[in-house]
Amino acid sequence: MNDPHARSRSLPPRGAPGGSGRPSAAGSLLQVRNLNVRFATPEGEVAAVNDLSFDLAEGESLGIVGESGSGKSQTAFALMGLLAKNGRASGEVIYGGANLLALSEAELNRRRGSEIAMIYQDPMTALNPYLTVGDQLTEVLRFHKGMDRKAAAAESVRMLDAVKIAEAKKRLGMYPHEFSGGMRQRVVIAMALLCRPKLLIADEPTTALDVTVQAQILRLLQELRRDFGTAVIMITHDLGVVAGVCDQVLVMYAGRVMEQGPAETLFASPSHPYTMGLLHAVPRMDHTHGSDQLATIPGNPPNLLALPPGCPFAPRCIERDAACLAPAPLADFGDQRRRACHRPIEHLLRAETEGAA
Ligand SMILES: Nc1ncnc2c1ncn2[C@@H]1O[C@H](COP(=O)(O)OP(=O)(O)OP(=O)(O)O)[C@@H](O)[C@H]1O
Ligand SMILES: [Mg+2]
Repeated sequence: MNDPHARSRSLPPRGAPGGSGRPSAAGSLLQVRNLNVRFATPEGEVAAVNDLSFDLAEGESLGIVGESGSGKSQTAFALMGLLAKNGRASGEVIYGGANLLALSEAELNRRRGSEIAMIYQDPMTALNPYLTVGDQLTEVLRFHKGMDRKAAAAESVRMLDAVKIAEAKKRLGMYPHEFSGGMRQRVVIAMALLCRPKLLIADEPTTALDVTVQAQILRLLQELRRDFGTAVIMITHDLGVVAGVCDQVLVMYAGRVMEQGPAETLFASPSHPYTMGLLHAVPRMDHTHGSDQLATIPGNPPNLLALPPGCPFAPRCIERDAACLAPAPLADFGDQRRRACHRPIEHLLRAETEGAA
């Protein structure tokens, strides 16, 4: 039997589900150290991810945020061992006591198949249009867990219930095109969680959906994370998606980490001008700014083959000065926060607050 969806692998049950979704001191799940991703191209080497490091505890959630081309998906593919043929990852991805980057393809397949699942940016890549949803779900359980058809069908119904698809049993006989976009994404989530992975990587899980459905899917992911105790890496270009969902945030630009830290403090007092720009790009519901237009950061991300000297964001940064022509190393500045910036913006926020007082 072939792996029914080699790109959406998952895992066997691991005892009692549970956990509050908050990290426990003892439960370190994943340690990423100095992850680099390089692609060989005829035009030269593309440095898609540079020196990315983070820790994830069991049940914890990390948001990876940044504009198009910032290296979010390639980070995920590197963690999964699924980079394109011309790509190479270096550094360390410690999971279950082993460096995933150093494992053979067979060993990696085994671990990936049993522990880590990913929801891909394009939801249709996860579903085969020619097979019923039931066939696709049960195949996962038969392949990974050796279940017979009947047990696999029963478990599939349970999981469709868990993602709140009504009349789950009847839906098993339907094809993907018979589901709405939001329902299809629920099926994809059910498929990813079928084998109860310890880690779920969700790459732009709501981008293709309208705003109301986006909110429902995000709520669902939160509930599932709590119920199953699954750690989640949530990849998005929208900081608003991460707010209230993630424990930690990593802000990327042009393959580099611009800022990272606990979500609560990062949102309350962003430090990097790029983070601030992304925050202003979050649509406001309250219209207090007199417009419902989405403010975006002027300009575009750079070509990775022609990066400016120094800070890659400098050409678009309103705070830039001569110092920004030199590289800005990622540095700790307290309270588990890091930033790569010569001109952090706390002073602006302080001035704003004092001005308002
Ligand atoms: N196979 C490849 N060969 C060369 N460059 C690549 C390859 N795959 C990706 N890249 C480059 O790596 C960079 C990061 O890509 P990545 O897919 O991680 O972006 P992203 O942050 O996920 O963006 P998006 O929000 O558009 O999905 C991009 O500049 C992209 O062109
Ligand atoms: Mg992407």
